[in-house]
Amino acid sequence: MQYSVKELLEKGKLLQEVTVQGWVRTFRSNRFIALNDGSTIHNIQCVVDFENMDEQMLKRVTTSAALKITGTLTESQGKGQTVEIQVSQLEILGDSDPETYPIQPKKHSLEFLRENAHLRVRTNAFGAIMRVRSVLSFAIHKYFQENGFFYVNTPIITGSDAEGAGEMFRVTTLDAKNPPLNENGSVQYSEDFFGKETNLTVSGQLEAETFAMSLGKVYTFGPTFRAENSNTSRHLAEFWMVEPEVAFLDLAGNMDLAEDFIKYVLRHVLENCKDDIEFLEQRLIEEEKSKPQNERSEMTLSERLRFVVDNNFKRVSYTEAIDILKNSKPNKNKKFQYLIDEWGADLQSEHERFLVEKHFKCPVILFDYPAKIKAFYMRLNEDGKTVRAMDILFPGIGEIVGGSQREERYDVLVEKIKATGIDEKELWWYLDLRKFGTAVHSGFGLGFERLVLFTTGMTNIRDVIPFPRTPQSAEF
Ligand code: 4AD
Ligand code: MG
Repeated sequence: MQYSVKELLEKGKLLQEVTVQGWVRTFRSNRFIALNDGSTIHNIQCVVDFENMDEQMLKRVTTSAALKITGTLTESQGKGQTVEIQVSQLEILGDSDPETYPIQPKKHSLEFLRENAHLRVRTNAFGAIMRVRSVLSFAIHKYFQENGFFYVNTPIITGSDAEGAGEMFRVTTLDAKNPPLNENGSVQYSEDFFGKETNLTVSGQLEAETFAMSLGKVYTFGPTFRAENSNTSRHLAEFWMVEPEVAFLDLAGNMDLAEDFIKYVLRHVLENCKDDIEFLEQRLIEEEKSKPQNERSEMTLSERLRFVVDNNFKRVSYTEAIDILKNSKPNKNKKFQYLIDEWGADLQSEHERFLVEKHFKCPVILFDYPAKIKAFYMRLNEDGKTVRAMDILFPGIGEIVGGSQREERYDVLVEKIKATGIDEKELWWYLDLRKFGTAVHSGFGLGFERLVLFTTGMTNIRDVIPFPRTPQSAEF
């Protein structure tokens, strides 16, 4: 019978004849094949009796060759494994030339692996990361579906700039077979989408709001695009965002929702990805050894995840945060050297990390930001200068969630739109929500890759998305 490696390790019966297909990780002593099929971080050891095997065929058992193996499942004497297969039949499904296969069974740099994004998922670390990513996706849907939310697919191509920040990719139309040419013979790209200016969405929020004002509790989970030319370890040009939106919910309720949601998905991973998390934890321990003692994390990966699940997020207003930053001494080792001195300034990642990693030492929800540094759709507070915004800051990550209670009052919203310089006519449909049955409502956006970063203990966002889209990388 055909099994996955995971099934064999979990429920294979001894002395049973089994078939398994996968890729060779290593082949030792012309006898032990470590086979992996991606179903788990673990390999199954397949023991060949080389005296009874075709010598030419065994030569083709090289790293990453695809094999079909049939044999008897027996107890294993080997360290760290319970069962192995005594091979009776071995079929090479696909050769892999060891001279030219780029991923050697040694430690490669993450840089090198990024250049080979089509093959890096064959390594243990990337296999683990991508399985955890998949489980996290499922947990996100599970949480919302179990809590009465409906999944909405918001447009990818849109005429609106949800954030009003102008960091958009313009969509153009091009007949690739008969492209219109310039006088000098080069392709003339059109500036529009069948006569309209459109862009790739930066957020599904505004459209999700329309659904929240009918279905009550909704969420989107889709790709979003930002034309920011920033080369940081936290930014991608294409990333996935989870955006719940809820009618009749205020800012405090929004914070409760975000906290409950994040804890749920992390708990789900801790319970369902034990082997992968254990592997990633060891990887991190190894990596940290190369750092100076004072920069090493005090907690292991699973302790970090547990800590978030078991402790309350600290809720702090922007104004309180500014006071803390003002009264903090610049850090001696210059990591947090420039601290803020002015109410109204936007927080830089240094400030966020200071608050989370040095001051509170736990996830922090910052709320009630100055209206001037936040998007037009956020609910203005009674003080006339702050809005009901919230950002959730995580250790090692910085901002993981951005959200707010939305401005539900028609007149105030029109004023805010005008002040931003957006033509209110473009947002006629958004304003309609405030004309017909308006109500308090709130939502947030969680950057999915930043969540995967935190969960896997990786440090560069390019390593937690299958094919990272950054200013340097759009090949695949
Ligand atoms: O704070 P942002 O810009 O908020 C919004 O887009 C709102 N419309 C969300 C809402 O209320 N529905 O983005 C939300 C989150 C950030 O907190 C961050 O985690 C992530 O999206 N994010 C990015 N992740 C990777 N690369 C980028 N360039 C990102 N920009 C934002
Ligand atoms: Mg933000």
